[in-house]
Amino acid sequence: MDLTLVFSLLFLSCFHGASSDSRYFTSLFTLGDSYIDVGNFVIMAARAVPAVPVWHDKLPYGMTFFGHPTGRLSDGRVIVDFIAEQFGLPLLQASLLNSPDVSKGANFAVGGATAIDVDFYERNNLVQFKLLNNSLSVQLGWLKELKPYFCSATKGGCRGCFSKALFFVGEFGVNDYNFLWSAGKTEHEVMSYVPEIVENIVRAVERLIKEGAVYVVVPGNPPNGCSPTILTLRSSLNQTEKYDNIGCLSDINRVAMYHNVMLRSEIGALREKYPRARIILADFYKPIISMLQNPDSFGVASQDALRTCCGGGGVYNWNPSAICGMPGATACKDPSAFVSWDGVHYTEATYRYIAKAWLYGPFADPPILSAIRH
Ligand SMILES: *[C@@H]1O[C@H](CO)[C@@H](O)[C@H](O)[C@H]1NC(C)=O
Ligand SMILES: *[C@@H]1O[C@H](CO)[C@@H](O)[C@H](O)[C@H]1NC(C)=O
Repeated sequence: MDLTLVFSLLFLSCFHGASSDSRYFTSLFTLGDSYIDVGNFVIMAARAVPAVPVWHDKLPYGMTFFGHPTGRLSDGRVIVDFIAEQFGLPLLQASLLNSPDVSKGANFAVGGATAIDVDFYERNNLVQFKLLNNSLSVQLGWLKELKPYFCSATKGGCRGCFSKALFFVGEFGVNDYNFLWSAGKTEHEVMSYVPEIVENIVRAVERLIKEGAVYVVVPGNPPNGCSPTILTLRSSLNQTEKYDNIGCLSDINRVAMYHNVMLRSEIGALREKYPRARIILADFYKPIISMLQNPDSFGVASQDALRTCCGGGGVYNWNPSAICGMPGATACKDPSAFVSWDGVHYTEATYRYIAKAWLYGPFADPPILSAIRH
């Protein structure tokens, strides 16, 4: 091999991103809830005693791209799948599959995961059912257990390996707030939990940075007041609800916005404390709102903006006795013509749009691709 070639290869492997982003990150590790779960909920639910019923382990879940259910709560890929594709990494497997090869990463996210430990909700009778033990702190524990498997062979040990990985911490918070709203808490009471929820997220990010992580994406909360599920459940309560100009529930969205503002401020403080870390604040709120405000420009009919693709009828096409995956529910022909997939989770088309906006901007601070080229 001639020296010129050796040098250009060296140059190429050090100077990433000229034409492709593959090889920039050696691995991807993701913590979160049902927005990015790729199968952990299905595994945990089957192991639970008594087993927890699952509706998303059958078609039409997975009808797009995969053609079969994968444990993802969408018709197709979720945000972190598009991120993996961008960086030439395989689509992550659910960590609880205990795959022998975790060298490219693992996805620890589980549907229903909370930022506050589940025993808090059970102890205070805020939920009337047994929760899966899947909170943020539990997921951090799983990551710690798996560490020897993806770090040991790496030069520089775990710090070196962490510094070349991309981490996602979140979204977290949506399930916490849902439990509090469902328990009948007032807006003021739900707001009072925001500092603790944000604190738990920020401490998790800090823990990863202390262990050597450099690139951490921290998504905020989506506008859950626009969820067809919550819109339906609230309308049957016959309360005089306040809707915004899109038709979303203002009180629920105010809590989400407050969460996002506080998250931004706490992440700001963390950046000052760890100037070498590249913490990316990913906006999960504005991209959804921009789709709902201008559905036509996303190929969504305006009358479908707040309706689910997959459901069992009703104003929002969400019916509690025929939820997507249950008998009686059907999927629309073209999920990309909908924002919401099943009432809570989004379509692959929505997730692709969000992933692109986090990679290239404008809905991330900084966009992931500018963070790596900084
Ligand atoms: C959840 O799991 C963690 C870690 O294994 C454990 O310490 C905790 O007691 C568990 N909590 C519940 C409510 O089972
Ligand atoms: C909702 O509540 C109002 C006032 O209490 C009552 O007049 C109305 O009939 C109720 N509507 C339904 C659909 O129950």
